[in-house]
Amino acid sequence: MGLSNKLMHWRYPNLEALKTKLQDRKATAAVIGLGYVGLPLALEIASAGFKVVGIDLDQNKIAALNAGKSYIGDASDKAIIAAVETGRFLPTSDFAALHNVDTVSICVPTPLSKSRDPDISFILAATEQIRKYLHAGQLIVLESTTYPGTTDELILPELESSGLQVGRDFFLAFSPERIDPGNTSFNTRNTPKIVGGITEECTEIAHIFYSQFIERVVPVSSTKCAEMVKLLENTFRSVNIGMVNELALMCDVLGVDVYEVIDAAATKPFGFIPFYPGPGLGGHCIPIDPHYLAWKLKALNFQARFIGLAAEINGMMPAVVTAMVGEGLNRFSKSIRGSKVLILGVAYKKNVSDCRESPALDVMRMLSDKGAILSYNDPLVPSLRINGNVLKSVELTAATVESQDCTVILTDHGAYDFRKIVAASKLVVDTRNAAKDLLEFKDKIMKLGAGNNVASSPRDDEHENVAISLATQKLRVDP
Ligand SMILES: NC(=O)c1ccc[n+]([C@@H]2O[C@H](COP(=O)([O-])OP(=O)(O)OC[C@H]3O[C@@H](n4cnc5c(N)ncnc54)[C@H](O)[C@@H]3O)[C@@H](O)[C@H]2O)c1
Repeated sequence: MGLSNKLMHWRYPNLEALKTKLQDRKATAAVIGLGYVGLPLALEIASAGFKVVGIDLDQNKIAALNAGKSYIGDASDKAIIAAVETGRFLPTSDFAALHNVDTVSICVPTPLSKSRDPDISFILAATEQIRKYLHAGQLIVLESTTYPGTTDELILPELESSGLQVGRDFFLAFSPERIDPGNTSFNTRNTPKIVGGITEECTEIAHIFYSQFIERVVPVSSTKCAEMVKLLENTFRSVNIGMVNELALMCDVLGVDVYEVIDAAATKPFGFIPFYPGPGLGGHCIPIDPHYLAWKLKALNFQARFIGLAAEINGMMPAVVTAMVGEGLNRFSKSIRGSKVLILGVAYKKNVSDCRESPALDVMRMLSDKGAILSYNDPLVPSLRINGNVLKSVELTAATVESQDCTVILTDHGAYDFRKIVAASKLVVDTRNAAKDLLEFKDKIMKLGAGNNVASSPRDDEHENVAISLATQKLRVDP
């Protein structure tokens, strides 16, 4: 060992010991929260040769994992069985397992409360457990998306109340998860990972940890910067989707096909990234995370205007879709009340089963409130609750589709044969441009952003849009 290494060992014995354990892959890792983020992460760490303790409060998830059964699309039964059988992955609900681990990654939910403020209670509960078992030489990393300041203003004081000192005894960092469920090209391993520690030593050790199982790790100067990176990424999406949704409404007024406009603009080889309109935002990230940032800034007397505007426009979209259904039925001298409406796709995006914050739920609630006789199909979502009623996904046959007054395409799952679906439908409301090639059926297709829905009507648009907006805001406040 060289002199400088000896000095490092002398100054930072915990840092050096942990570094060696990580580089030799002899360390034991823990992941708290085994959901869409935590489970793939735990499996990736295990596949690099580490022993991983996976902790979740949900006993059903722990039982499923111990039985080799996955509950999310991005983790296969095979991967779980392999990790559990080799003894490298130990799912449990017992936090005492933290006693013997060297790293802890926190992947618990960060939802909004009923008043749409950040709910960081899951992070606080996990931190309390970590504090109980905190010991020298441990690395703690928060991965849950949250507002800038959470790691150094909330987690750090709680952990240091143990008497241990950050950067010397234990190490604390923030590293945002960037997983994109259903993405077949990018996964935990090949998506670059940002890390920002409380001290340089924290960043260094977090960098070493993630480099063992992630191809590219990008250090930043602080936890707050790392927290802000994630919020920039998700606010960027929310604002651009809001902008393109508004553009779709403009195209309706102008009678121009928004998809033709976007695809033509996307031929520009620089300075343009295509975003597409849709029935609204969904999932645990994009509709929620920007509110964490806006909330934090509001407390500092700063109004995040883009975030508010994007949320307002994106939040309007389910009402726009509902109005399109009404307009389409009207052409057949029918009203929403009493009409049979079949919803296709209720997950928030293509080829995933996640319905959290899905705009389909809002569209279905609105149609149900207006008296539609609703049914739905989603190959990945067998049942769901709307306005207190449990609906089951109906089988998608020509007879089922033919029996409906209107088919509404909300999520364009890869399993759908849109030619067959549209052929059997009387009226199609297409919010995803899924029927773009079916020109022979164009007379029965109403496409979002193509000059044929409510926003294009030259009447009292302003009032109608305000009404829609108010109705939507009311809906989105309801649980
Ligand atoms: N889902 C995504 O696509 C995605 C992508 C990037 C970042 N994120 C962020 O990652 C975080 C986790 O999201 P998710 O989608 O994996 O959530 P999830 O709901 O799928 O999983 C969270 C898990 O944590 C468990 N849990 C809750 N409190 C706990 C506690 N105190 N101790 C142990 N387990 C606990 C829950 O039972 C659940 O299984 C959130 O902050 C989210 O914003 C999510």
